Amino acid sequence: MIPSLWLDRLRQQADRRRALGRDRAIHPAAGVDMCSNDYLGLRCDPRLAEAAAAAARTFGAGAGAARLLRGTGPLHDELENALARWKGTEACLLFNTGFQANATLIPALVGAGDAVFSDALNHASLVDGCRMARAGGAHLGIFRHLDVEDLETQLSTWRAQAPVSALALVASDAVFSMDGDAADLPALLDVCEGHGALLLIDEAHATGLLGPDGAGLAQAQGVHGRIPLVMGTLGKAIGAFGAFVCCAGSLRDHLLNTARGFIFSTALPPPVVGAALEGIRIARAEPWRRERALTLAGRLRQALDQPAALSAIIPVSVGDDAEAVRIAQVLQASGYDVRAVRPPTVPEGSARLRITTGAHLEDGQVEGLIAALTEALATTRRP
Ligand SMILES: Cc1ncc(COP(=O)(O)O)c(C=O)c1O
Repeated sequence: MIPSLWLDRLRQQADRRRALGRDRAIHPAAGVDMCSNDYLGLRCDPRLAEAAAAAARTFGAGAGAARLLRGTGPLHDELENALARWKGTEACLLFNTGFQANATLIPALVGAGDAVFSDALNHASLVDGCRMARAGGAHLGIFRHLDVEDLETQLSTWRAQAPVSALALVASDAVFSMDGDAADLPALLDVCEGHGALLLIDEAHATGLLGPDGAGLAQAQGVHGRIPLVMGTLGKAIGAFGAFVCCAGSLRDHLLNTARGFIFSTALPPPVVGAALEGIRIARAEPWRRERALTLAGRLRQALDQPAALSAIIPVSVGDDAEAVRIAQVLQASGYDVRAVRPPTVPEGSARLRITTGAHLEDGQVEGLIAALTEALATTRRP
């Protein structure tokens, strides 16, 4: 039985969401995938399924415990080593999800008297990690999106009044999940190195897709192996599930002793780890996959008169929430799985369609979407 006070509260909040047109519901996958993060088309690759099955047969369906108890098997070590090699770092630590990684590694690194600086459009998981650090007494500075000068000003101002021993962390998405634009990592690194701050980047939408070996944005921008904390996920381009932080051995050691999302959570299941290993192998061995995803994204951007960008995320700005939902529904009715993204996932007044491309898409599917989208947008007023 739900107590009546609770029922009232739930009803009020649901009514408010509905009045604002912000009610969320789960709609199962249907139609041509134009919205997932399966950029390399690996999610349904039979080789990943076979790797998962083989891992399950050898090591079991579940890990049985957290990593620090009995949860670590040979595949966990193998995956951490493979990721560290790929990302050019000394070490790597797996987390169960990207959300868990970001939300818990930040408060494990900065506490009372320290500071964390975060790009204004960072992913919710980084935002929550920063909020947790602030709750623990750290200063939280939000710098304007992609504005390295604003970051530098905030860092200098904070440093001028902070105790000498105070630590600063800077957190930024590499590729931003809702806009598909990219941080200037060399510039961020310069500012961080100049102020003795540690840089954490989230390569969730760059891993597997960018750089000559698919290692990510750091590789694409020539700072491979130079960023102290490179976080990424395995449930997007890699086609499996899970997350990681690539870093120096000393940072790994610190995180495995302090990051609560790592310590107090059952380890990734062996089949997931086996699939991730195979996903990484294929991502590296078959560069045509990332080239295809990016070519298709370029085609969509060109058709929509958008400047070229290096990610496979194409935002189509609509502005009004209800209108974004309506256009998404029109496209879904034509067989294209496109979803509307509304506040609070994106800033107020910036509802949009978030379209993505993947290696599994055919030219005809992308051309069909362009035609359907052009028609659907013709009748709407956009910002
Ligand atoms: C930039 C970014 N970071 C972190 C996450 C969270 O990763 P996970 O889905 O593994 O929790 C996501 C998306 O889901 C993301 O887009």
